[in-house]
Amino acid sequence: MKRYVILISGRGSNMESLLAAGLPGACVAVISNKPDAAGLTLAAARGVTTQAIDHRGFASREDFDAALAAEIERHAPDLVLLAGFMRILSDGFVRRFEGRLLNIHPSLLPLFPGVKTHAQALAAGVRLHGCTVHFVTPALDGGPIIAQAAVPVLAGDDEASLAARVLAEEHALYPRVARWFLEGRLQLLEGRARLAGERPAHGALHVPAAD
Ligand code: GRF
Repeated sequence: MKRYVILISGRGSNMESLLAAGLPGACVAVISNKPDAAGLTLAAARGVTTQAIDHRGFASREDFDAALAAEIERHAPDLVLLAGFMRILSDGFVRRFEGRLLNIHPSLLPLFPGVKTHAQALAAGVRLHGCTVHFVTPALDGGPIIAQAAVPVLAGDDEASLAARVLAEEHALYPRVARWFLEGRLQLLEGRARLAGERPAHGALHVPAAD
């Protein structure tokens, strides 16, 4: 049975969608850099081991990342899922987990990396917005794209309404991609996401990266 760890910083709704999906693997820990993250309570209620490693207790980003990496390794995961984990990770951390480290980002990358993505989308006037699951590499929000889901931007949208529409897609997309990985079908090869086996139909809004 494959093992996965989820990293969170807050609400934990993406974490919850992963835990609820019946993935072919065991969630061996949920770890937060914020001790008061609401997601920790949700995970504990599902019987998952939870841990908080408060980044404020460390002198540098590297020190925090080293402690986090050591804790993750203790659980020997095949896969590490960033789910609303709001810390930039050092290059050393990312390299250590490269190929087994995924993130979900609330925009159609490479548009709108960083934070406040829904405000960025509204300000840019795009008609399509969405979310992206990608392999994490040292380039912030710049790793190889695995799959994306798109939503329309509607007249009258504000940040909250747009965020809610995107979030519903996040909750569908992330478990789907995690499942591909845990089934052994998804790999990072030569800087590209490769998906083996039966591919989801194109033409839908969930579009896996080409191989
Ligand atoms: C999500 O929109 C995620 O894509 C972004 O931060 C938000 C976290 O929400 N990185 P939650 O904690 O999963 O509810």
